[in-house]
Amino acid sequence: MNQHIHAKFVSMLSKLRKIIDVLMNQQRWTRVDRYFSNFLLANDSALEAVLEASIVAGLPALNVSPLQGKLLMILARMLHARRILEIGTLGGYSTIWLARALPPGGSVMTLEAEQKYAEVARANFRRAGFDTAIELRVGAALDSLPKIALENRGPFDLIFVDADKRNNPSYLTWALKLSRPGSVIVIDNVVRQGAIVDPSLGDPTLEGVKRMNEMIAAEPRLDATAIQTVGIKGYDGFIIAVVTAE
Ligand code: DHB
Ligand code: MG
Repeated sequence: MNQHIHAKFVSMLSKLRKIIDVLMNQQRWTRVDRYFSNFLLANDSALEAVLEASIVAGLPALNVSPLQGKLLMILARMLHARRILEIGTLGGYSTIWLARALPPGGSVMTLEAEQKYAEVARANFRRAGFDTAIELRVGAALDSLPKIALENRGPFDLIFVDADKRNNPSYLTWALKLSRPGSVIVIDNVVRQGAIVDPSLGDPTLEGVKRMNEMIAAEPRLDATAIQTVGIKGYDGFIIAVVTAE
């Protein structure tokens, strides 16, 4: 075979192999996710109804996975969290997982910018029996957060950040203002298929995540770690940080 054609063929094969690897890995992650979901998550018709209603309403399927939702619930329980703040409600799937961890009298405050998502979430909270324990505020989180501070609604025991990633640096700043030593801050989507180590090339999402990560690294009031995750949502990760000082 002509050497040039041969080189092209080898390069094509290598690209094809990479694509197949990605697909096979995703298939494997999905199977393992289902394996654990099937026997660690009880038949959960309440949350299945929430997802169904979100799909019917046309919401983007960006909610945390069932196993990740349960992780949030377990973290909240471990912290005996009474006051929880969530930035980014979407259809309220993670909100309900968090609310399930609450002791009597506890509450989740959740912030959603999109009116349409908020309406779907509100109906979901009612359906799941959490319309009093969950307080939903509609509007840009950067408008709601200063009001929440003025109303003295903090400090929150657990803060989950899962909204528009470009504003993550500001959300981190507010999370710190609304916390106390011992509070835990969890941030979703800090890995982005590994793109976090690529040059951002002006991508505001990646820039937001990277700037926030740098702030966390430089923040003396936070001790943080990152956990990479694979599963039905692909390859991503969380930052989990604990507030160590005022
Ligand atoms: C996106 C947002 C999320 O919160 C998530 O968990 C996954 C993806 C996104 O905007 O692409
Ligand atoms: Mg997310």
